[in-house]
Amino acid sequence: MKKEIKNICCIGAGYVGGPTMAVIALKNPHIKVNIVDINEQRIQDWNDTDLDKLPIYEPGLSEVVEHTRGRNLFFSTDVEQGIRDADMIFISVNTPTKTYGKGKGQAADLKYIELCARQIASIAQRDKIVVEKSTLPVRTAEALSDILSNSESGFNFEILSNPEFLAEGTAIDDLLSPDRVLIGGDNTESGQIAKDTLSSIYEAWVPKERVLQTNVWSSELSKLTANAFLAQRISSINAMSALCEKTEADVDEIARAIGMDSRIGPKFLKSSVGFGGSCFQKDVLNLVYIAKSYGLDEVAEYWDQVIKLNDYQKRRFADRIIKESYNTVSGKKIAFFGWAFKKDTNDTRESAAIYVADHLLDEDAEIVIYDPKVTEERVYADLEYLNNHSSEYIRSRVKIVNNPFNAVGDAHAIAVLTEWDEFKDYNWEKIYSKVLKPANIFDGRNILDKQELNTLGFNVYNIGK
Ligand code: UDX
Ligand code: UDX
Ligand code: ADP
Repeated sequence: MKKEIKNICCIGAGYVGGPTMAVIALKNPHIKVNIVDINEQRIQDWNDTDLDKLPIYEPGLSEVVEHTRGRNLFFSTDVEQGIRDADMIFISVNTPTKTYGKGKGQAADLKYIELCARQIASIAQRDKIVVEKSTLPVRTAEALSDILSNSESGFNFEILSNPEFLAEGTAIDDLLSPDRVLIGGDNTESGQIAKDTLSSIYEAWVPKERVLQTNVWSSELSKLTANAFLAQRISSINAMSALCEKTEADVDEIARAIGMDSRIGPKFLKSSVGFGGSCFQKDVLNLVYIAKSYGLDEVAEYWDQVIKLNDYQKRRFADRIIKESYNTVSGKKIAFFGWAFKKDTNDTRESAAIYVADHLLDEDAEIVIYDPKVTEERVYADLEYLNNHSSEYIRSRVKIVNNPFNAVGDAHAIAVLTEWDEFKDYNWEKIYSKVLKPANIFDGRNILDKQELNTLGFNVYNIGK
């Protein structure tokens, strides 16, 4: 049995809420989908008639928004109205790692989620299905449920966990053909109805066998586990990259060889300057915190090592640039190709580039950055957020340019931090003529054609080769 859903509200118009709701609206034209956010600028950008101004860059997103916006997809700052009208409410607000108090640096900060729950409790005028979409520590649904069931409204709030597995840069494809959709809820009669109701929304386009139902805790913990396993694969191959650099082994050859073992599989074995993004570090730290809070110290330490190795990889890359620059980068210009945490996104959260730059700034380097999608203010905000250098110092040492060729003039080194496809096709001969000699390239993504660059005269330093 399921309920009829005519109106959905999503609280939070970010990287998860925006694309997910756009696709739900696309595939369920009979449902009105309202995305609400307290950030006025963000909502204004989502409503901009110029689709290039959407607040997030995702291949294929603007087409979906163009098709649905104003038809059955709406963006608004009126959170209360959105909640009031909805049969089903998705909570997709940010859950950053806590920067204060208990669990600082590890636990997820749930204040935004709690605020949403309280707001729903005070505004709702009928029963609602509430879906947690943000990545959350296990047992958050319980907290949500506590707040909602203790409200004086007397209405029934059914809580579901529906973690999002989309990856940025491929969000629309991931949403259109997901490996699976996971829906966790209570095994009571009303819980089952809620699960079936949400399942039916996805089954408008996802094959039924890919929509999994579990209990709430399994669903919540599956999301953390998936991200921890993925992050662990990258740290594992990156650990091998350090060993490869000491031996004559080549990490890409190793990845290929082990990837053909069907028990291991070929994906997610690309050695790099380190993983970034809003999820991996946050979720692994969260897992560490949860394990510790249950007294499972060995489990916590095991996963913590995934983060330590990633930090090591970022630092190792910066150290290599310094070492090959005759042990000093002071006053030297280092050109960065890429700032986003991966290609095809303008998102920079936890990007390896930030940490590499910060380390080079400790050594008084000058950094000139080109990224096809990241804005100047974003770069400054990322570096200032670390709080290691003053804003004045950062702005005097770091420049952002909107053309790659403007980044490389008189550069002592070029560092590739993001695997943007366009980097491969540049006129490298022209770049060679502009940089200082010896011409050093540090390819943090192993994407450039080393042999060709060597022929042009470049020294190319790779990860794990
Ligand atoms: C991740 C998960 O993939 C997704 O399922 C979850 O919903 C959110 O977190 P995302 O962070 O958007 O998605 O991107 P992802 O493709 O997983 O990449 C994360 C980081 O790992 C990037 O910095 C990427 O460059 C790096 N990476 C990925 C590698 O260094 N090597 C790889 O082989 C794969
Ligand atoms: C292993 C490798 O699989 C093989 O490729 C290599 O050549 C030799 O080492 P083996 O040790 O014979 O082979 O057996 P394997 O099936 O890998 O199992 C090793 C251990 O892991 C066993 O104790 C098995 O019970 C355990 N295991 C395996 C699990 O606990 N869980 C699993 O999911 C798989
Ligand atoms: P994610 O990657 O998880 O989508 P984002 O930070 O991109 O994270 O998006 C989360 C959005 O949630 C932000 O735009 C933020 O303004 C919004 N938000 C946070 N708290 C609230 C709230 N109480 N009501 C409405 N929107 C909120």
